[in-house]
Amino acid sequence: MTITRNDFPDGFVFGVATSSYQIEGAAREDGRGPSIWDTFCREPGRIRDASNGDVACDHYHRWPGDLDLIRGLGADAYRFSVAWPRIQPDGKGRVNSAGLDFYERLVDGMLERGLEPHATLYHWDLPQALQDAGGWVSRDTAFHFAEYAHVVAGRLGDRVVSYATLNEPWCSSILSYQIGEHAPGLRDRRLALAAAHHLLLGHGEAVAAMRGLVREAGLGIVLNLQPAYPASDRGEDVAAARLADGTFNRWFLDPLLRAEYPEDIWEAYGADVPEVQPGDLARIAQPTDFLGVNYYSRSVNGASGNVRPAGSSYTQMGWEVYPQGLTDLLVRLKGDYPDLPPLFITENGAAYPDEPSGDRVHDPERVRYFQAHLEAVARAARQGVDVRGYFAWSLMDNFEWAYGYTRRFGLVYVDYETQARVLKDSARWYRALLTGQPSDVPVAADD
Ligand code: FCB
Repeated sequence: MTITRNDFPDGFVFGVATSSYQIEGAAREDGRGPSIWDTFCREPGRIRDASNGDVACDHYHRWPGDLDLIRGLGADAYRFSVAWPRIQPDGKGRVNSAGLDFYERLVDGMLERGLEPHATLYHWDLPQALQDAGGWVSRDTAFHFAEYAHVVAGRLGDRVVSYATLNEPWCSSILSYQIGEHAPGLRDRRLALAAAHHLLLGHGEAVAAMRGLVREAGLGIVLNLQPAYPASDRGEDVAAARLADGTFNRWFLDPLLRAEYPEDIWEAYGADVPEVQPGDLARIAQPTDFLGVNYYSRSVNGASGNVRPAGSSYTQMGWEVYPQGLTDLLVRLKGDYPDLPPLFITENGAAYPDEPSGDRVHDPERVRYFQAHLEAVARAARQGVDVRGYFAWSLMDNFEWAYGYTRRFGLVYVDYETQARVLKDSARWYRALLTGQPSDVPVAADD
């Protein structure tokens, strides 16, 4: 049995997601300033295939066709991100109206096609000029971000259905300043925690700045959450899972939803904790209209490191396919956070080494992945979780950060030589779910 729209609550929104640097290209057009990803991609050894986002999917020029594709899938909504360096090439002050014009055309293009625009203001492409002044380690960046958010919401207003301030602050702080895998590629935990705090503060400041400007649009933030399970019920494994959950999930959830940092992790971080000024936490925790959840996998934690459960299947990223983790996560959020706003699954998807065969791309694992995770969302909804939408990552194959073009997450296959787009079987399957029309894609048996 395959799922249908009827398995979801009334008004549940189905969409697809992308982000600016990953698809737009046109890196030097119409006044766009450089971003930290332009810089990072040029540093030897940072990107697996030594590629960059200069052209990517050329979406900056091909957006009308791409919106037609989304419409053709029967989607209700499109989650995209705005490139800050197109709007403010220097990260502050001067506004480049050509950048705003682009997103205005894009949003109007969605509305013409009956698609709800869901904007994300920061999907990691920080203007390089702000990095030169310290990036997110500098507290000032939070206030520059709010100014930028004010500019964007001032132009796009209530035509946008939801504004997410940040995408995955764990990635733009820990992965970028401590683990060094993402721009700017630093390896310093103290700086990473300062960056994380200023990102959260920037979220709060941006929400405050936009509140007065928009009446209808929802305001919120998107977190990547990864439920942490202990490898066994031994005390030290349980402690390892608690620590992983704390650093990955609670470090972001608790300030946003409880106006406090988790005490156990605060202690574990010792002298590396960020400087928190009076009022910061109240600012960070001001009420929002939704929380976006990006879910890909879980972690299984043992005292001596993470374990990979035998018998599980893994995506090309090496991430375990574990749909039940999404149900568990959503139910847990509802249980742990009384002030939880309505939830949207803002990303969920999988990379596999897709190969075209004729005019088709058969990706049965991805079909199975989407089906199982949508079932997981439906289960959470039946357990009383207020979840209102699901965005598949991603509309199309794109620049996968440090992996360059070596990982394909799209429903739609992109031939980067010709920029041709080909619907994968997963896109055909998703279209059948969204339109209620029959599909020619075999549906995998339930696991
Ligand atoms: C998420 C990012 C998104 C994409 C997917 C695979 O962490 O938000 O841009 O890279 O992972």
